[in-house]
Amino acid sequence: MNVFNHKNLLDMGQLSVSDINLILQTAESFKEISSRDIKKVPTLRGKTVVLFFHEPSTRTKTSFEIAAKRLSADTFSLSSSGSSMVKGETLIDTAKNLQAMNPDIIVLRHSSSGAPHLLADKISASIINAGDGSHEHPSQALLDLYTIKEKKGRIDGLKVAIIGDISHSRVARSNIIGLQKMGAEVTISGPPTMIPHDISELGVAIVNNPSEAVLNKDVIMTLRVQLERQSKTLFPSIKEYSNYFGINEKTLSRAKEGAIIMHPGPVNWGVELSSQVGDSPCSVILDQVSNGVAIRMALLYLLLGGVRSEETAN
Ligand code: CP
Repeated sequence: MNVFNHKNLLDMGQLSVSDINLILQTAESFKEISSRDIKKVPTLRGKTVVLFFHEPSTRTKTSFEIAAKRLSADTFSLSSSGSSMVKGETLIDTAKNLQAMNPDIIVLRHSSSGAPHLLADKISASIINAGDGSHEHPSQALLDLYTIKEKKGRIDGLKVAIIGDISHSRVARSNIIGLQKMGAEVTISGPPTMIPHDISELGVAIVNNPSEAVLNKDVIMTLRVQLERQSKTLFPSIKEYSNYFGINEKTLSRAKEGAIIMHPGPVNWGVELSSQVGDSPCSVILDQVSNGVAIRMALLYLLLGGVRSEETAN
């Protein structure tokens, strides 16, 4: 029997191939609950999930909250602007005070890389990293792996191009680690100013021209240009970025037939991705969002011990 032996989900590096397979299989078994008329099972009744978001989020926060509620956990949301952090309370003090109320899981998004790791050392509740700075976003990579497997039938042996602002992207880092663990071949592409110097240490191919990077690829993953994380301008203008690095129908025509287009959202339409490609049948962007709920249900369930009641299975 597969066992999920982790208290926290902090990064993709901590997960083995069998952990990832277990998460994907568990998500598969939970996905059907979201299509029921009554979208709720008692699996996590009596458990408390705190959503502690220091950065804006639409998809991740909503999807963790829906996932927790579908499993009957109680949820509580806290943002930095609505907490005593505006009065100067530190992250650790805030977390210790939350811990004093005995939650089971704290889902943390923070602008500082390593913030979830810091909390995991200080408090006894499970911590899920919901995106920390430009470091990692493991639940996003897991929902991306799930979506790729759902659409292509496998991950092993696929060729994936990740295109855009690699330097500032926690999604890129988590996906590179996860895709490689699962046997995919990863190529990255983007302006040289947005490619980290040490990225080749992760075993990826680097092809700056996106039209070449997409050649014969099964999966094209586009990334948001993260203007808010750039301390200086890394390209001359949005128009120039769009002309050279934006993915449009012409670029896509060079990918393998049946290739899928992914994006973690939010999309800068007309910058990293044309709306024609986003609206085309090869786009799985909204499938990624739907699958995010199933993946997050699986993560909450597995981190809390993975005991599934008879009622849940019905
Ligand atoms: N993909 C993602 O993290 O989106 P949000 O910022 O809306 O959560």
